[in-house]
Amino acid sequence: MIRVTYLSQAASNFSSIDLLYLLEHCHVNNPKLGLTGLLIFGNETFHQTIEGENHIVEELIGKISNDKRHIKFQILSKQSIENRQYSNSAMGFEKLTEQTIADVPELKNFMLPDFNPEYLSSNGSVIESLLERHRSSHWDPLIREINARDEFIVQLRNALASKHQQLESSTLLIESIIESVHDGVLGDDHIRLCKSMLSSLRNKTN
Ligand SMILES: Cc1cc2nc3c(=O)[nH]c(=O)nc-3n(C[C@H](O)[C@H](O)[C@H](O)COP(=O)(O)O)c2cc1C
Repeated sequence: MIRVTYLSQAASNFSSIDLLYLLEHCHVNNPKLGLTGLLIFGNETFHQTIEGENHIVEELIGKISNDKRHIKFQILSKQSIENRQYSNSAMGFEKLTEQTIADVPELKNFMLPDFNPEYLSSNGSVIESLLERHRSSHWDPLIREINARDEFIVQLRNALASKHQQLESSTLLIESIIESVHDGVLGDDHIRLCKSMLSSLRNKTN
């Protein structure tokens, strides 16, 4: 398997609803391809990590690099791996805000405008601090401490990660509705996405 990480900048017309459609596509497509990973979006900048079988990741990266929804595509790293770091998620997502950055103690002097391809490509430790919070191994010290590698802890960890993802998607959906209402257009596809997310939230909370 390999893990590929890249940076890019969103095209100028890229909106919250575009981001939602993109995430919806990843959540449908990536499990079929056996892909896992993480997408961080902030200050119009993408940082994505994708892991899976070599030829599948390479093929997808080829498509992504030609995607018109972003520019300044640059691979940061490509490495052979034996184990996945994001095994919980077909494509975990985080939208960075000033608040989320302020919550990471290692990033005291880092501001949201610094989340851009130029700064990040030469400041690897920033990315490391952001990614660490999403990795499957993040909870390992806790697991070791209580010496309980049992199924319950694993399920609890997965449930928390899944709730976090729901929160990210719901926030993005609300932002996209506000943008659409502001522009005076709430399209049929957008409404379909709202209904589908609502029903998935209802099913998961019942
Ligand atoms: C920032 C960004 C990240 C993307 N990530 C993925 C991804 O993880 N999985 C995926 O299937 N497509 C992803 N895409 C979309 C692909 O570029 C491409 O549009 C999609 O795979 C279409 O595939 P198809 O030609 O098989 O329909 C991403 C696009 C962008 C702009």
